Amino acid sequence: MDFVLYQTQDNIGVITINRPSALNALNMQLLNELNAALDLVDTANVRALIITGAGEKAFVAGADIAQMRDMSRKQAEEFSALGNDLFSRIAKFPIPVIAAVNGYALGGGCELALSADICICSQNAMFGQPETSLGIIPGFGGTQRLERKIGAGRAKEMIYSCISIDAQTAERYGLVNHVYPCAELMDEAMKLAAKISKNAPIAVRNAKKAINEGHDMPMDEAIRVEQDAFAACFETHDQAEGMQAFLERRKEKNFTNN
Ligand code: COA
Repeated sequence: MDFVLYQTQDNIGVITINRPSALNALNMQLLNELNAALDLVDTANVRALIITGAGEKAFVAGADIAQMRDMSRKQAEEFSALGNDLFSRIAKFPIPVIAAVNGYALGGGCELALSADICICSQNAMFGQPETSLGIIPGFGGTQRLERKIGAGRAKEMIYSCISIDAQTAERYGLVNHVYPCAELMDEAMKLAAKISKNAPIAVRNAKKAINEGHDMPMDEAIRVEQDAFAACFETHDQAEGMQAFLERRKEKNFTNN
């Protein structure tokens, strides 16, 4: 792969968007490689996935404008479908995904961050949807996920005006959970991933499923989704181990994702 790196440390996966010469802008090859990197994640054993950008300046500065310039309507539709399918795959990925936003997260970069379960960022991060200044609209989920995350008023202001927001504003809007000094971002992402990976994978995955699937449902239906996911944790090794360890006052737990 030319533009995407995948590494693992213990049971944490790290995907790095690696095209710093173009501020990690997403061209078609990169999107396909990101898909291929997700295929490499051994979801039976990896318990959390971090996505970040190479270099100190950008997470992802958007979809590749040079590649989009000459696209036909049909090609634009296919490009949007490629990005949307990929970002929906990330949103529904069976294990938690943390976006560690290390600089510009513009256009497709903001949309990639929005498809993660949890977004943290460095102090120099900037979030924005500059598409209307280019004569287009967000095409990788931005009109939908940004609105759901920060509310229609703020999302419309960002999308209509193309005003980017800094890390503190993104935190205030609830777009990011925490802001860290640049040099500490990856350590903090790893610490958070390690905390997640200590808990029962069966439970974490069912929690993600319940939160995601219930999100757009009426409350009564959403509660049923939770009920099913709750029940699915029982009669598993991890439920027996977690509860037995508590009752024995044992700190070390041997969770196996079974
Ligand atoms: N698509 C293609 N190339 C991009 C890009 C994008 N979205 N964003 C940055 N690049 C390229 C630049 O063309 C430049 O390439 P070059 O060195 O070959 O000329 C390189 O990355 C560095 O970018 P540059 O603009 O020189 O950096 P800067 O520090 O002056 O500005 C930004 C940084 C992020 C403000 C600016 O690059 C920018 O506005 N990018 C586009 C953001 C955008 O509109 N994204 C949404 C696309 S739908």
